[in-house]
Amino acid sequence: MDQGPDEAGQLYLGIETSCDETAVGLVSSGRNVEGEAVASSAGKQDRYGGIVPEVAAREHVAVLPGLVAAVLQQAHRQPQEIAAIGVTTGPGLFGALLVGMTAAKALAVAWGRPLVAVHHLEAHLYANALTGPIVFPSLALLVSGGHTGLWLWRGHGDLVRIGETLDDAAGEALDKGARLLGLGYPGGPAIERLALTAQGPGPRLPIGHIRGGSPYDMSFSGLKTALRQILDRDPTPDAARYALSLQEAVVDAVVERVELALDAFSARAVYAAGGVAANRALQERLHAVARKHGIGAFVPEPRYCTDNGVMVALAAHYGFSAGIRLSLEAGPRTPWPLGSARV
Ligand code: KG4
Ligand code: ZN
Repeated sequence: MDQGPDEAGQLYLGIETSCDETAVGLVSSGRNVEGEAVASSAGKQDRYGGIVPEVAAREHVAVLPGLVAAVLQQAHRQPQEIAAIGVTTGPGLFGALLVGMTAAKALAVAWGRPLVAVHHLEAHLYANALTGPIVFPSLALLVSGGHTGLWLWRGHGDLVRIGETLDDAAGEALDKGARLLGLGYPGGPAIERLALTAQGPGPRLPIGHIRGGSPYDMSFSGLKTALRQILDRDPTPDAARYALSLQEAVVDAVVERVELALDAFSARAVYAAGGVAANRALQERLHAVARKHGIGAFVPEPRYCTDNGVMVALAAHYGFSAGIRLSLEAGPRTPWPLGSARV
């Protein structure tokens, strides 16, 4: 019979293969990281200027079995000690997800352990369980390379969508801007490093305001065009200043919506997640705006902001207790909106 996760020391394995990171994590008691491993095909993707789904899927096939073995070894744990195996089932690249799901199903059958379906974005948010107990209701901000949005997080498995980007994700805007500035992929960390060397402020780039839509929605696709137009007119561009401009435009757009949401909804904390949440400039602004509202802003350590297996194991812990399972017949869910729509 399945055991409940309230039992002390419950151990969960998490498998993540939704994009270009192959990642495995092992977590006990919903907060203790016992083992983790991440391999990225980003280096192999760099020369294509973006992620090629076929390349990502092939890399997952090549490295996932080794990562699972390494994580169990790191933790000195046996498969029989695992309460359940969590696997990202969407959203993401179909072929990439399929590799992780098929591996997780094979392990579940071989080891006789239950399977838990994990939503990739919810897993990102659960990385915050490492910062302390999650309090509800809270405001959840997801800023990654594929998704950007705000949710009211009312309880485990109870998320209400407040706003989302209508076009590019925040990380995508940084990645595209970075390419225009001649920086490699992923662009976010490169932009952050370069912005720190800027000798002065860069030009203000326009932040997309949505006419007629929800005030919490965002738009980032105009940033790339604006930056390209400025670069076209500048024969000797100061890349560091433009990197700072781009970073500020993205941070402003996100923080403005967070502030609006904190004014409108009662929240006891702000939880940020996703690759862009690793950005220090964004973190400082989030802390400031949360402080103004008398609450705290929480951001996982950088390696738990980007794709990792630990967040999937954490989400599996809470999902398992809520009765979420994955059947052997189920396929990847792509697309898969997170949470219910606001009424
Ligand atoms: O969450 P993530 O690893 O992948 C998904 O999209 O699911 O996020 C990757 C994104 C990329 O766009 C990358 O440029 C951005 O996160 N990123 C950053 C930083 N580190 C990663 N953006 C800004 N500052 C950073 N330090
Ligand atoms: Zn992600």
